Amino acid sequence: MSKLKVMSIFGTRPEAIKMAPLVKELARHDGIESICCLTGQHREMLDSVMQIFDLQANFDLNIMEKQQTLSTITTKTILGMEHVFEVCRPDLVLVHGDTSTTFAGALAAFYHKIPVGHVEAGLRTWDKYSPFPEEMNRTLVGDIADLHFSPTKANAQNLVREGIVGEIFITGNTAIDAMKYTVRDDFRFSEPLLNELDFTHRRVIAVTCHRRENYGQPMQDIMHAVLDVVNAHDDVEVVYPVHLSPVVRQCASEILGAHDRIHLIDPIDVQQMHNLLARCYMVMTDSGGLQEEAPALGKPVLVMRRETERPEAVVAGTARLAGVDRQVIAEMASELLDSPAAYAKMAKAVNPYGDGNACARIAQAICWRFGLTDTRPADFGAQG
Ligand code: UD1
Ligand code: UDP
Repeated sequence: MSKLKVMSIFGTRPEAIKMAPLVKELARHDGIESICCLTGQHREMLDSVMQIFDLQANFDLNIMEKQQTLSTITTKTILGMEHVFEVCRPDLVLVHGDTSTTFAGALAAFYHKIPVGHVEAGLRTWDKYSPFPEEMNRTLVGDIADLHFSPTKANAQNLVREGIVGEIFITGNTAIDAMKYTVRDDFRFSEPLLNELDFTHRRVIAVTCHRRENYGQPMQDIMHAVLDVVNAHDDVEVVYPVHLSPVVRQCASEILGAHDRIHLIDPIDVQQMHNLLARCYMVMTDSGGLQEEAPALGKPVLVMRRETERPEAVVAGTARLAGVDRQVIAEMASELLDSPAAYAKMAKAVNPYGDGNACARIAQAICWRFGLTDTRPADFGAQG
């Protein structure tokens, strides 16, 4: 009997981190052929994930350009997928999240009448320009997809409210599955700075910032806030692995580059990142993925954005929406540094986003939908 062909299409770092454990899980199923197609929207940051998870791509569109626009990413992906689908017609395409690769990959599959499964479905801010263009990408993919894998119950409810067509499964977020591969007590960093840092006697803040809607004034204000916090606290060190986007790199180096306790480093591989999270004092970020990972490790997160599509950690008390105002961000960070009670309240390990079994649920849901098993997976969180 021929196997069910499931093609995972992804192209950026966060998609790769969250799809890698799923690609591996699917490959373990006898009835499934797990095919991996990269768009190459990212290059170094994508290759690093492939290496850590020991994955090889079956196809690679290699589309990245130095100053790429949303239009170039989208059109190059759609055109590139024409050729891939000529060579290999999958029974199901999987896309992840909300990037331009996600949207273009889903649209390309739709043009070929190939069913689409959307991993990390149903996250919403209801502001089409924030995050930009991610909110629109994931909303449009919601309309295209046939199978929706929502991390949380609230995400699934968003889809139900929108009257989305197709089957919805509540699976947990595969980011938490990925952490099973990466976090180790005895981990040694290959980045020399991280091995030399004294995580016991210094308070290390992990910082990242890259979102397109923060480009310009908001990003400058965020960087200044980080500078203010470090200047006000002698025992604080900042580790900021700077995204390879030239816009982000210029802003970070201009404002933060000269401070001896602010360490601007190149992006680190995901294993180092997760182990940095496990050892740091707290996290300041506009990243989506870090908002999910840090709470699972008991680290307070200040979200440097105007909104979040991930309210679960805010409700659980481990994340706070800090916005993009310099003074507000600096005050919130200082509170966590100056008040042991405020810190203790936020520094608790909670896993609102998953239990590490999301990939198994998604694989089972696919098998169920295509008649390879009679059992629909139980929802994440269903046991209470
Ligand atoms: C993209 C996603 C965003 C996601 C982020 C994760 C879209 C529209 N945006 O951000 O949702 O949160 O990735 O990181 O899909 N670059 C390299 N090497 C790399 C990666 C990037 O040099 O490995 C540089 C290139 O100059 C590239 C630039 O970074 O042009 C920006 O990359 P891009 O994928 O366009 O980033 P964002 O859209 O900011
Ligand atoms: N990450 C990483 N190295 C870094 C910075 C982040 O491996 O130098 C990981 C992080 O742990 C998370 C993911 O990248 O899993 C988040 O990606 P990013 O912030 O680029 O995108 P977003 O999640 O905001 O879409």
